Amino acid sequence: ARRQRIFSAMQPTSDSLHLGNYLGALVNWVSLQDAYDAFYGVVDLHALTVPTDPAVLRERTRRTAAQYLAAGVDPQRSTLMAQSLVPEHTELAWILACHTGFGEASRMTQFKDKVAKGQTANVGLFTYPILMAADILLYDANLVPVGEDQRQHLELTRDLAERVNARFPETFVVPEPYIVKGSAKIQDLQDPTAKMSKSISADLGLIDLMDDPKRIVKKIKSAVTDTEREIRFDPENKPGVSNLLVMHSTLSGTTVADLERAFEGKGYGDLKAEVADVVVAAIEPFQSRMAELLADPAEIDRLLAEGSAKARLVAADVLERFHDRLGL
Ligand code: ADP
Ligand code: NA
Repeated sequence: ARRQRIFSAMQPTSDSLHLGNYLGALVNWVSLQDAYDAFYGVVDLHALTVPTDPAVLRERTRRTAAQYLAAGVDPQRSTLMAQSLVPEHTELAWILACHTGFGEASRMTQFKDKVAKGQTANVGLFTYPILMAADILLYDANLVPVGEDQRQHLELTRDLAERVNARFPETFVVPEPYIVKGSAKIQDLQDPTAKMSKSISADLGLIDLMDDPKRIVKKIKSAVTDTEREIRFDPENKPGVSNLLVMHSTLSGTTVADLERAFEGKGYGDLKAEVADVVVAAIEPFQSRMAELLADPAEIDRLLAEGSAKARLVAADVLERFHDRLGL
C-alpha cells in the first residue's frame, strides 16, 4: 500500500521565518517525511494577493525553499515544489470556483478579518481558500497539517471534494486535518497571551530564524514572565514561563515535567539562560546551512524546478481525472 500522502505549504511572504514556524511547522515536516509521502510547497501564487516587488518575491520564494532545506526537509525523500511551477493549481482553482457558492466563499472569516484590518481586498484574496483547496486536492493528499487559522479553509476543501465526489464518484481524496502530536505553539515573547507572528509581533517579541545569536539571547532574556518565582507549566496563569518551557522541551526533547523538576528552586534568569542556549544551539547550525544554500541560489532553483516537475506528474494525473469526468 502506498504511504499516506501529506501536503503542507507556506507563502513566501517574508525573507525569513520565525521560531514559531520552525517549531510549529518545519520540525514536524521533517519528522513526517519518512512515514508519509510528503509534498511541501512554497505557494508563491498565494503571495500575489499582496502586491510585492518581483525581485523581492523571487528571492523570498528561494529563501523559503532554502529554509525548508536548512531545517532538514530532504528533497530526495519529500517533494519540494513551487506552486507557480505547477500550472495545474490555477486551473483546478478555476474549476473548483465553479463549484463554490458565492455565499459559501463569503463566509470565510480570514478574508473578513483581513479586510476589517484594512487590507485592500482583491478578488484573489477572496478566492484564496479555493486556490488552497486546489493545492491540496491536486495531490490526492490524505492529511493536511494545519494550524487553527487554516481550519475553516480545510473544511471548505473537504466540502468541495465531497460535493464533486457526490456528482462524480471517486474524483477526489477527501483530506483530513492532521494535528501533529506534541506540536508546539509558540507565543510572543513580549505578549505571551498572543502567538508569535510575523504580521503581529513586535521585533522583541519574535525570534527570527536569521537573528544574530546575541540578539536571540537578548530577546529571550527580556521575555515577559510573571511576578511569581515558581517555574511551572501553566499556560493559563503563567503564559510567559510556559512558553519558555515549551521552547526548551521541543528543542531539547526533555519533557516539561522533567524540566519543572530540574528547575525546582531556580529562578527565571536560570530558565531564560538555558532556553537561550538551547535555542541558539538549534539555530546556529540552521543558519550555517542557510549560508551554504544561499551561496548557490542556482542550486536552490534547480531543486525547486526538479521537485515541481515531480509534483506536476501527480497533479496532471489528478486534473486529467477531473477533466474526464467534467467533459473537458
Ligand atoms: P499561514 O498561517 O498563513 O499558513 P504563517 O506564516 O502564519 O502562515 O504560518 C506558517 C506555518 O507556521 C503554519 O503551519 C502555522 O501553523 C505555523 N505557525 C505560525 N506561527 C506559529 C506559532 N507562533 N507557533 C507555532 N506554529 C506557528
Ligand atoms: Na497565519
